[in-house]
Amino acid sequence: MTNRQTEFYWLVARKNGTHLETGDPMKAEQKKFSPSGPVCAIYQVMGLRLKDKWVLITGASSGFGAAAARAFGAEGAKLLLGARRMDRLEQAAAEARTAGASAAHFHALDVSRTASVETFVAWAKARMSGQTPEGGELHILINNAGGAQGLDSVLEGKDDDWETMLQSNVLGVLRMTRAALPLMPHHLGATILNIGSLAGHVPYEGGSAYCAAKAGELQITRCLRLELNGTGIRVSSIDPGLARTEFANVRFKGDEARVNKLYEGTNPLVAEDIAEILVWVASRPAHVNIDEMLIKPVDQAAIHKVFRRK
Ligand SMILES: NC(=O)c1ccc[n+]([C@@H]2O[C@H](COP(=O)([O-])OP(=O)(O)OC[C@H]3O[C@@H](n4cnc5c(N)ncnc54)[C@H](OP(=O)(O)O)[C@@H]3O)[C@@H](O)[C@H]2O)c1
Repeated sequence: MTNRQTEFYWLVARKNGTHLETGDPMKAEQKKFSPSGPVCAIYQVMGLRLKDKWVLITGASSGFGAAAARAFGAEGAKLLLGARRMDRLEQAAAEARTAGASAAHFHALDVSRTASVETFVAWAKARMSGQTPEGGELHILINNAGGAQGLDSVLEGKDDDWETMLQSNVLGVLRMTRAALPLMPHHLGATILNIGSLAGHVPYEGGSAYCAAKAGELQITRCLRLELNGTGIRVSSIDPGLARTEFANVRFKGDEARVNKLYEGTNPLVAEDIAEILVWVASRPAHVNIDEMLIKPVDQAAIHKVFRRK
């Protein structure tokens, strides 16, 4: 068992020591402090077992999502992967299995359409219940699908770009969370990880719609944490700065020169950096919530201050 896999869960050992049962951590805690409670020993043992836990990742066909599939796969998790590009999803699922995933399934998903989200979640539910006798529970939801379109000023902005960004980064998170929440267990460390951005914290020229979208994601995360208080479901916003994925290729619509200029001379984050952090956040003890995490490359001291080697 690695530190990364560590979570606290409770075993209640009955007085005769012959029977161990896993207990709801809340109930176990109450028994511990109840003077008239049953005589029992409570052992805090480690081991979040990401192993065999169901993890749903949106936008798993490239970048952070595909890297997260490999990283959770390496922990032995069971994966439900969604995005629009099926060939790339198939590849991501195969890589996750090679990394150690005990299952890696994929299905088409467009988070900008409610019908697609609902179909996807119904498929996910069927996949989970088909593989465990007691019916599956979704342990981790990673709302990662999204991205930027264009870098136009407000004056020159395009409706299509604005609508695409708000649909995927904002409404997609709402839709996916609404649909998937009923599948998540309470009090066992279930976790929602929303991928935000440095852009949700600070503005930059040409970023109006994307900055607004990621600020929206951050506020959704904060609202959700309030709404879910008492359920034991954790909610985090993981907010990367400059990272080299397909993000810029999408933003600049295939203009390689603009993509290369963005990263020129600098040492950006890579997808594995974020995937490793997602695994770490999801494997904290069940009572620990990492609210928000801002991750930037060392070369990016601030959104406008990026060190570039000659
Ligand atoms: N790279 C960065 O610098 C950076 C920094 C901060 C935050 N982020 C955020 O990180 C997340 C992942 O981006 P990335 O950097 O890994 O870029 P990426 O390589 O372009 O990955 C984006 C993923 O989102 C999926 N996606 C986009 N729209 C979708 C939709 N409507 N429905 C379903 N899936 C959709 C894409 O899959 P399909 O095209 O196959 O559907 C792809 O798998 C995004 O939310 C992005 O805003 C990126």
